[in-house]
Amino acid sequence: MNDRIDIPPYLAALNRAASYGQEFRQRSHPLHPQATVPELRRAFCVDLPEQGLSPEQVIDDLIAAAEPGLVGNTDPNFFAWVMGGSDPVGVAADWLTSVWGQNAGIFQTAPAAAIAEEAVSGWLLDLLDLPRESSVGFVTGATMAAFVGLAAARSEVLSRAGHDFEEQGLQGAPKIHIFISEDAHATNFAALRFLGFGSANIIKLPCDEAGLLSVDALSRAIDATAGPKIIVTQAGHINSGGFEDFPAITTLAKAHNAWVHVDGAFGLWARVLPEKSGLTDGLEQADSWSVDGHKWLQVPYDSGFAIVKDSQAHRRAMDISASYLNQSPGDGRNPTEFNPELSRRARGFAAWAVLRAAGRSGIREIVERHCLAASYLTEQLENLPGIRVLNKVHLNQVVVTLDETFDDRNSMVVRLADQINLSKRFFVRPAEWRGQTVLRFSIISHQTDLNHVERLAEFVGKVLEELKR
Ligand SMILES: Cc1ncc(COP(=O)(O)O)c(C=O)c1O
Repeated sequence: MNDRIDIPPYLAALNRAASYGQEFRQRSHPLHPQATVPELRRAFCVDLPEQGLSPEQVIDDLIAAAEPGLVGNTDPNFFAWVMGGSDPVGVAADWLTSVWGQNAGIFQTAPAAAIAEEAVSGWLLDLLDLPRESSVGFVTGATMAAFVGLAAARSEVLSRAGHDFEEQGLQGAPKIHIFISEDAHATNFAALRFLGFGSANIIKLPCDEAGLLSVDALSRAIDATAGPKIIVTQAGHINSGGFEDFPAITTLAKAHNAWVHVDGAFGLWARVLPEKSGLTDGLEQADSWSVDGHKWLQVPYDSGFAIVKDSQAHRRAMDISASYLNQSPGDGRNPTEFNPELSRRARGFAAWAVLRAAGRSGIREIVERHCLAASYLTEQLENLPGIRVLNKVHLNQVVVTLDETFDDRNSMVVRLADQINLSKRFFVRPAEWRGQTVLRFSIISHQTDLNHVERLAEFVGKVLEELKR
């Protein structure tokens, strides 16, 4: 007898996904998507059937359609953008999150999810050594974390100026002066725009070669303005990995009653390493912080944390009030008070699992390993004739260009990246930074170590030789 006959069709689909998932994570697979856009469209954009298909068949079809279009960011040879590699323990917890199907909107719809978030909030504040009274919103990533932190900022600085934003909105509000490095991550400008601040309403400050705002310029600009103020700062610049001068910035902010938000999407994790935490000194004096779970922490996508010191401002900004959402006495955390969503994924489970599986030492280990690998890569690259490392490597980001032995450096950098990618052994991306084309190596995928960057540097050397011919 075929005992699969007794298995409900959805169980076969779950089994198929589980066995495929294990097999996928254990074998090597292409770093670069194999399928072209038309091929992906042919695979996905089929007619929606009138009658549903067998669940197992659908999962098989999904695997067949998606796998050729996957990007290999779970592979240790992935150095593009700034992307984590989805820790398998987090993946397992993420599977359970879907299996349990919880709606983590309010405590009552998902008590376990709410308390998992409560636990992770405490661990994060402790690990990152941020004010313990802060509240934490579990959001999709650092972009939404900035949105939440800056929404709290908007509410609070207006309230201090006697304007009730929740009642009146931005209409008739005093002008808020927003200060930010002209070279801050694009998502901060996007978050500000979502909140009603266009680029002409923002004071973009000149910055140094690492993309970090000039404190003198900030000081002059802040002196020249009156009224509510928000300063957006960076802990871990997207290209240089640099940190702003937090002691000076937070001192200025306090003197001017300004709110300081820190974009620490990946850089905030420097605080877990004693030898790196000095880079972040003073940022604990800020008011809000955004940090990703899906980058250095390796929580599967989507995971970001919006940390706000003034929990009242945080709740005020995110409030969704309705009688059917009321809490009962004795309830635990109500997640919706800290996120811009009601119905939502129970994001705390995967973060809880990853943090417990790594432990404090595991988190230190990965940050330390990646920083060491970045320093080692820098040394190797600096020994290669023709290449120039552009940033002071504090963290995990290494940015290079070519030297004057190459004509038309920008297009040669693109060719260098293309040749590295064509080998299919590595995944890298060129970027535009400060008026030139650069190649940025981000060392952040969870298994990357010294061996991987050594092989990368050797290969870069080989390609350079070929480009010179
Ligand atoms: C410094 C910095 N800020 C913000 C972001 C946006 O993060 P997310 O993509 O998680 O929204 C990134 C992403 O690379 C980043 O590096």
